Amino acid sequence: MPVTSAETPTHLPPSTWHPDSWRSRPITQQPDWPDPVQVERVTEEIALQPPLVLPDEIGTLQRSLAAAAEGNAFLLQAGDCAERFSSCTEHGVRSKLRVILQLAILLTYGSGMPVVKVGRIGGQFAKPRSKPTEVIDGIELPAYRGDIVNSPEPTAEARRPDVERLMRAYHHSSATLNVLRALTTKGFADLEQVHEWNTEFVRRSPAGQHYEQVADNITWALRFMQACGMNGTQSLRQVHFYTSHEALLPHYEQALTRYDKSTGAWFDTSAHMVWIGDRTRQLDGAHVEFLSGIANPIGLKVGPTTTACGLRDLIERLDPNHIPGRLVLISRMGADRVTELLPPLLRAVRSTGRSVVWACDPMHGNTFVSKSGYKTRSLCDITREVVGFFEAHKQEGVHPGGLHLELTGDNVTECLGGAEEILDTHLCTRYETACDPRLNASQSIELAFRVAGLLREHRGS
Ligand code: PEP
Ligand code: CO
Repeated sequence: MPVTSAETPTHLPPSTWHPDSWRSRPITQQPDWPDPVQVERVTEEIALQPPLVLPDEIGTLQRSLAAAAEGNAFLLQAGDCAERFSSCTEHGVRSKLRVILQLAILLTYGSGMPVVKVGRIGGQFAKPRSKPTEVIDGIELPAYRGDIVNSPEPTAEARRPDVERLMRAYHHSSATLNVLRALTTKGFADLEQVHEWNTEFVRRSPAGQHYEQVADNITWALRFMQACGMNGTQSLRQVHFYTSHEALLPHYEQALTRYDKSTGAWFDTSAHMVWIGDRTRQLDGAHVEFLSGIANPIGLKVGPTTTACGLRDLIERLDPNHIPGRLVLISRMGADRVTELLPPLLRAVRSTGRSVVWACDPMHGNTFVSKSGYKTRSLCDITREVVGFFEAHKQEGVHPGGLHLELTGDNVTECLGGAEEILDTHLCTRYETACDPRLNASQSIELAFRVAGLLREHRGS
């Protein structure tokens, strides 16, 4: 059984909204598609494809998020910064799911709370960029905007936006979902597999060894339950796993937005949950307009430039009917400023009387370029931001509702620190991300232990 709160209502769009009403609003962060007619042709074709997820599943996620907003569950949203078409393989999907399941079980075990599992997966193909172009070896090239738009290789040909990629993104999302559905319902996610989720290279790390101890305890608890005759429960054998991505390209999102007769609502069937990035959350802009009408749970990135007033206006636009579980506010302030910037926003949202999930993204406010020239983050800053996030919540008497991470199950060297002491000189060894640096599996597990401790403390306080 998924974690759910009581029945929750479904968001209905404002009367002026239509799936294409975003088109009359100013829009930022869009590719320079060479031929607008072709964009319409491809998106019309996508509109004829089956939905990737169904309204019922989206409703179940919303109810689980409503439980997280009330402090009865915790959201774990994690995955790549930018998914690659080439990592849409059984191995690629399995390895991301594996590390998310490991983190989820540590958080559940450590805090005694159900964990709502949402991947940045099955559609996280579009990236906002700080500049539209970049200079590589003296040549100015369009920026890489994610596999749904172009390719990261530093040539003019690879960087040219290609509309056909919208359709490829749909098919890759569909294939990813297919593997995810099989893995989460047929054996791989069975709690009996808790030791199998720990891969060989993680097992050798201190975090992996610590994980083994927890896995032993869980296995022992399962034996105990079986001995007591409690062995038939489905929830130990499969997990509810949801997909999410940044809804950066409204052309694509509109093509997958479908009317649901039974509720009278519009669902964006490209993913269970979508979010608005820190660069596209303008109150009168196209992204906010589009998301204000769909009934999916909506994530909203809340960065250092967000004011209490601006945030109140945005949540009023996105959730006028105070629907529990509709909004996930994803704080990404940076380790140094979170305890200063977050409390006024927590107070502002509380004063609206809404039940929202506050999640901590400790990644995007802590990125810097290292001496060796790599875009990186340190586990130390990431952990400090999470600690600050919990402190702010404690101070304001608000539930810390979730964690939002960029991670991979692979043994990469993209973020600094951790028990294995990844240094600047190691970054070049396995720096594989197409966009932002991700925590590797052992760094993620190390962080999950810390967060589980903070959650347990918070619940006890
Ligand atoms: C992201 O989540 O990958 C991202 C770009 O975040 P933000 O919009 O918070 O910068
Ligand atoms: Co990112």
